[in-house]
Amino acid sequence: MSNFNIAVLDGDGIGPEVIKQGIKVLNQVAYKFGHTFKFDFAPVGAVAIDQTGNPLPDDTLELCKRSDAIFFGSIGHPRFDNDPTAKVRPEQGLLRLRKELGLYANLRPVAGYKELTHLSPLRPERMEGVDMLIVRELTGGIYFGEKGRRDDGNTAYDTCLYTRMEIERIVKMGFEAAGKRRGKLMLVDKANVMESSRLWREVTREMAADYPDIELGFMFVDNAAMQLILNPAQFDVIVTSNMFGDILSDASSVLAGSLGLLPSSSVGSEVGMFEPIHGSWPEGAGQNRANPVATILSAAMMLDHLGLVKEGDAIRKAVNTVLESGKGTEDLRPKEQVGTDEMGDLIVAAL
Ligand code: IPM
Ligand code: MN
Repeated sequence: MSNFNIAVLDGDGIGPEVIKQGIKVLNQVAYKFGHTFKFDFAPVGAVAIDQTGNPLPDDTLELCKRSDAIFFGSIGHPRFDNDPTAKVRPEQGLLRLRKELGLYANLRPVAGYKELTHLSPLRPERMEGVDMLIVRELTGGIYFGEKGRRDDGNTAYDTCLYTRMEIERIVKMGFEAAGKRRGKLMLVDKANVMESSRLWREVTREMAADYPDIELGFMFVDNAAMQLILNPAQFDVIVTSNMFGDILSDASSVLAGSLGLLPSSSVGSEVGMFEPIHGSWPEGAGQNRANPVATILSAAMMLDHLGLVKEGDAIRKAVNTVLESGKGTEDLRPKEQVGTDEMGDLIVAAL
């Protein structure tokens, strides 16, 4: 039996309601396996801007630093999206959190569900055997390089900068993940154009000597985008930079049939952060419509990370049972449609 302190940053839009389902499930796990989870809530994103003017208030960051894990909902609000002059944005909260906590690796597993292949935009035979992990670098590259405007604001720039150290630690994670899976690692980059990508290739090639059992491949990102649609089953582990990983993981997430199914973890330091891949879906907020499965599976990744692997497996099994039952939220176009809350209850009941 163990005790864990979990910081809950439920954020904006549908964040709070999907997190609520995740907590229900975690409480059931605690009860069933005899653990204690203590949840402390703190604001982040647009909600935090409204309350304090800061998308990541100091108290929130402090809470995260002293917790065992961070359970994160989603952030973003449309009122900031089309305002290029906004100085403070919800997204800055998430980016600062990643940077401050040293969460340099973002792991995004993508797998098809047999019973949901009809939801995939791809033909069922193309979905067969799709099971990949995208390892996205999360605290470097163009997201964090120097940016600004020159010439009276008429020229804008964002710099993509990577150091050998940053590349080595994320690629190492890619090799190790591949070793635990099907033994294939694909480095995705734009080495035909970008100098930073050429450094990624150089470093990765050197490191390959330490991993003789891993089959290493290289692919340009434009081709990778196409291959993810044409033949997604060819991929085992993809390792890539921050922005390419952002784009490719959103693209791959719909292969499974719904963005509402896919979890992620951000790790690298003592405390990991666990969150659904999807955004805050402001139009759907507060309507009991959002799919909580991505968040609940993120809770399972959190338990794995805390060393509670059989507990994480129990959650994944419960989710499968419910998905197989034909019940689901509207995005799954199920035989029997249920709301966010009921979906959470069904998964708790299946545990
Ligand atoms: C993600 C999101 C974030 C990102 C945004 C909200 C800053 O799209 O986690 O993928 O681009 O990293
Ligand atoms: Mn994204």
